[in-house]
Amino acid sequence: MKRELNITVNGESYNFFVEPKTLLVHVLREMLGFTGTHQACDSSSCAACTVIVDGKAVKSCSILALQVNGKEVTTVEGLADGANLHPIQQAFIDNWAFQCGFCTSGQIMAAKAFLDENPNPTREEIQMQMDGHICRCTGHNMINEAIRDAAKRLQSREAAKKLPAQKNLQSHKWAQTAKSGKGA
Ligand code: FES
Ligand code: FES
Repeated sequence: MKRELNITVNGESYNFFVEPKTLLVHVLREMLGFTGTHQACDSSSCAACTVIVDGKAVKSCSILALQVNGKEVTTVEGLADGANLHPIQQAFIDNWAFQCGFCTSGQIMAAKAFLDENPNPTREEIQMQMDGHICRCTGHNMINEAIRDAAKRLQSREAAKKLPAQKNLQSHKWAQTAKSGKGA
């Protein structure tokens, strides 16, 4: 008997009925059309199907859709900001970190969940974290390079976000100094 499923995918809420045996990957790809999530081995061995559920990287072929009832799912389609790719996506392109691209969305989603938790990882930490993400055609070195590059890009983006606040503070100090003749 079908059961009700409520999930949020890439910020949009969905509500429908599914068979209890339905896998998350089937809901995403076949019912909602998020085909950027790839399904390769179907046996939890390649991680191509990785998505983010409530901040954690999850293999969507290895979890029932009903297990994510009430949760937030992010797929690769949810990363870009309009026409602007997410820094991790851009770093994969700039570092030649894919060829056929079949594993890439899973690699990117795992990298996103990882960098959210560890914004400045070492090469070894990335290697350990990405262990289990199988790529059959690109060197894993390039993927590691892309993730380290993405970490730098994300750090610069965060630093740039803080700049206006610092500028405002600085101009407030100058205004105080100009008014009183004393440094604020
Ligand atoms: S398709 Fe999910 S781990 Fe391979
Ligand atoms: S880019 Fe082809 S499997 Fe990874």
